[in-house]
Amino acid sequence: MTETAQATGVGSEHVIEGPGLRFRVKRTAMTSEEVFRAELAKVFGRTWLYLGHESEIPNPGDFVRRPVGGRPLFMVRGAKTGAVNVFHNTCTHRGAVVCRVDKGTSKVFQCFYHAWTFDSEGRLVGVPGEDAYGDDLDRSALGLGRARTESYRGFVFVTFDPDIEDLPTYLAGARQYLDYVVDSMDGNVEVVPGTNEYGFDANWKLLVENSIDGYHAASTHDTYFKYLVALGTDLSIGVTGVTKDLGNGHAVLEYQAPWGRPVALWEPLFGEDSKEEIAALRAELTDKHGEEKALVMAERNRNLLIYPNLIINDIMAVTVRTFVPTAPDRVEVTAWELAPQGELPQLRQRRLDSFLTFLGPGGFATPDDLEALESCQQGFASGGVEWNDISRGMGRDPQATDEEQMRAFWRRWRVQLDATD
Ligand code: FES
Ligand code: FE
Repeated sequence: MTETAQATGVGSEHVIEGPGLRFRVKRTAMTSEEVFRAELAKVFGRTWLYLGHESEIPNPGDFVRRPVGGRPLFMVRGAKTGAVNVFHNTCTHRGAVVCRVDKGTSKVFQCFYHAWTFDSEGRLVGVPGEDAYGDDLDRSALGLGRARTESYRGFVFVTFDPDIEDLPTYLAGARQYLDYVVDSMDGNVEVVPGTNEYGFDANWKLLVENSIDGYHAASTHDTYFKYLVALGTDLSIGVTGVTKDLGNGHAVLEYQAPWGRPVALWEPLFGEDSKEEIAALRAELTDKHGEEKALVMAERNRNLLIYPNLIINDIMAVTVRTFVPTAPDRVEVTAWELAPQGELPQLRQRRLDSFLTFLGPGGFATPDDLEALESCQQGFASGGVEWNDISRGMGRDPQATDEEQMRAFWRRWRVQLDATD
């Protein structure tokens, strides 16, 4: 008997591998309140979760506020230490949210309820009417609650699991793909100010699948391909590549595609006048990293999943997308654009155009993708069919249109949902 067949629990009830080349996911994994509650504890409570990028808070006191795994947090650059501090966004007095705006710069964070005040290192520095506490108010024990935080090459993650492995170990094979992103920009990566924020009515795992799904590109995004043809793009190379399980639930879809890349593969969308600049970037990559790695960084596209809810699309632009489920059938998404610091203004402009044209909330891809995901969720409500089929490509080396990368996600999800502690 296989290990899979012996396992029991909510995960194994919902993800079944075999017999033969079959991989199925029970649709209640996307609809059940009970599964959703279990996920908040067993997935979002037991993984490293992306919070933001260090470049978003370059100066002392800079902060951003975000929900992570359903919990309000904020990240602030400490004025004393210069460190990236991540705090639970709750006052140590009686609970109110301390940081009440999404972004800014501040020396202190004052709770609006009774005005306790904390500095950017989380220390309690002000208590109105402190003499009412006698000598027993220990300010040092009443600083803001810190979330366990680690960064990998500027990407800041937090976890609520005290026992989890360190971040580099957790990232496993995904580290190399983060390295490609950072190295292709010579280590000087910044998040372009501004966000795309949108929500949709479907289960969050459908967006995980969709973000690394090569199978839907030709059918769902037919309009985009027609647009590229109209611009003079040669579609003959098609979308060809591989999908890989990177360990710990992480996975990548890596492929060559007809569209260009700002670093560094020119296409008509970028304009004739950018041809030389992009060629120069390509030559620089080859000088620094050798032809083989330069080719991977410049010409291959990657849709990277860092389990459970971070997507880095290193495609016609580099986007970072994370999402928070708020119900079994509701997700809130935030996306950012990454770019090299000091990029030439015209290249920056084209990068942003390229990002918004395909991946923006009103671009060629996102509305069609969300329509597909909401359509799946509506289909689940119809009943009569209990299982989704995710078997594509099980009998061969996984190709770009196969589903091995999704199976990597679901296998990890199954193990986590089976956990009893
Ligand atoms: Fe923050 Fe009272 S709850 S000061
Ligand atoms: Fe898509």
